[in-house]
Amino acid sequence: MTTQREDITHNAAGFETDQDAVFDRIAARYDLLCDLFSFGIHRHWKRRVAQLIAREPWRDLLDGATGTGDVVLRVAAAQALGRDHHIIASDISPKMLAMASRRASNLRANITFRQLDAHAMPAIADASIDLYSISLGLKICERDKVLREALRVLRPGGRLVVLEASHIAPAWLHRAYLHYMGMAMPIIGWLATGGDASAYQYLLKGIHQFPDAADLADEIRAMGFTEVSFEKLTLGIVAIHVARKPA
Ligand SMILES: C[S@@+](CC[C@H](N)C(=O)[O-])C[C@H]1O[C@@H](n2cnc3c(N)ncnc32)[C@H](O)[C@@H]1O
Repeated sequence: MTTQREDITHNAAGFETDQDAVFDRIAARYDLLCDLFSFGIHRHWKRRVAQLIAREPWRDLLDGATGTGDVVLRVAAAQALGRDHHIIASDISPKMLAMASRRASNLRANITFRQLDAHAMPAIADASIDLYSISLGLKICERDKVLREALRVLRPGGRLVVLEASHIAPAWLHRAYLHYMGMAMPIIGWLATGGDASAYQYLLKGIHQFPDAADLADEIRAMGFTEVSFEKLTLGIVAIHVARKPA
């Protein structure tokens, strides 16, 4: 059921960061949860995100809601990063950031880990970023605000890359998938988090409420981005959108 809050803010999961520090609590188990929920397929999705990022001529990359750093680690693996490449890996959860920082400790890449709320990042100057990426974070945020903030920090001509839940076609298969997730996620999530229901409830709600790729593309366009396109992966379980800030 769609609540008034979701109507106003486009917050698919209804997650309020100041109300529940769930990602701090599950930080140590987040990677395991990802593998269990997706049967490891999220690794392929994030590799694809890194490939798309590697195609772009960027110097300053901001990864929002970076979590344990899965995407930035893959970016560092996908392309030879020079001294002029600077990555800001940002998240609202200090514990997720600590995990990301630990995982990246052997990398030579120039990565700064910063605690930032993707809804408002006053510490990041206007038009200072070449590429803004966000993976599996938009559904638990107020996506209008996040997209508007991405547009603000991007340089003219800068790129947006979004990995997020989508809809499988045909619709009956999508309904079957949601039904399966509705049964499997609480069991797997309960076992993997030691009974912390928040984690999988938000993610499950987010998957249910998040729009199809074509609708998200319309939202991104309406926000002021151009050259909006998307590709669906794994039958449409997720999609990757890319867009450009007008030059
Ligand atoms: C589902 S995880 C995705 C992590 C990672 N990007 C990935 O693909 O595995 C969502 C992340 O969003 C972060 N997050 C939630 N609300 C946020 C906000 N308002 N600003 C920044 N990060 C946020 C959480 O702390 C969590 O690390």
